[in-house]
Amino acid sequence: MGWHVTLLTLFPDMFPAMLGQSLAGKALEDGKWSYHAVNMRDFATDTHRTVDDTPYGGGAGMVMRPDIIEKALLSVEKPGRRIYLSPRGRVLDQALVTELAAQSPLTLLCGRYEGIDQRVLDAHHFEEISIGDYVLSGGEPAAMILMDACIRLLPGVMGNEETSGEESFANGLLEYPHYTRPAQWDSLIGRSYDVPEILRSGDHEKIRQWRHAKAREITRARRPDLLAEDE
Ligand code: ADE
Repeated sequence: MGWHVTLLTLFPDMFPAMLGQSLAGKALEDGKWSYHAVNMRDFATDTHRTVDDTPYGGGAGMVMRPDIIEKALLSVEKPGRRIYLSPRGRVLDQALVTELAAQSPLTLLCGRYEGIDQRVLDAHHFEEISIGDYVLSGGEPAAMILMDACIRLLPGVMGNEETSGEESFANGLLEYPHYTRPAQWDSLIGRSYDVPEILRSGDHEKIRQWRHAKAREITRARRPDLLAEDE
């Protein structure tokens, strides 16, 4: 059945969006992963299908009601690990992506409005995951990003299995620079640029060393925090 994700959302039509195209889209067609988007509004009982209410204690915005979210969750036959996408959560990194790609099923709760009643998160043991230190208007794009990062790691999804081992973060470093033809490229805005000679030398060991040195140099310049441990 492949890797399966249930999405609890008020906007099921936002999916699959970008996940229906390119690499993830092909993998979806091939059955390597699947998803089911549950519209939480279907669990509202009043005529206006209300899913939110004003916050206790006052303040701006609305809060999603715990009863609606719980009913939506309980409608899922096998929810698996429950995750609430939220800027308060543990920040997603490649290690966590690797862990989640190896786990199925997952249920991703996508919030809208100011937040979600804390009690439903506590009662159903949602862990919180953030995709970075900025605030989105809802959890759906964050869920898609988490899923995209996992899908490309699923067995058989990337044609060249080596690719995922060499790229940024897999070895704790940012990626070395890439070049393709032509060997000498004349930019339309004036200058001419050559591909580094060593990459055309055919000496695989030297090329490997050069790439590793470049990866370290770029990581030291841009993200010294990634090197801090072994420097
Ligand atoms: N929802 C709103 N902002 C978010 C973020 N940064 N990460 C995950 N979910 C979010």
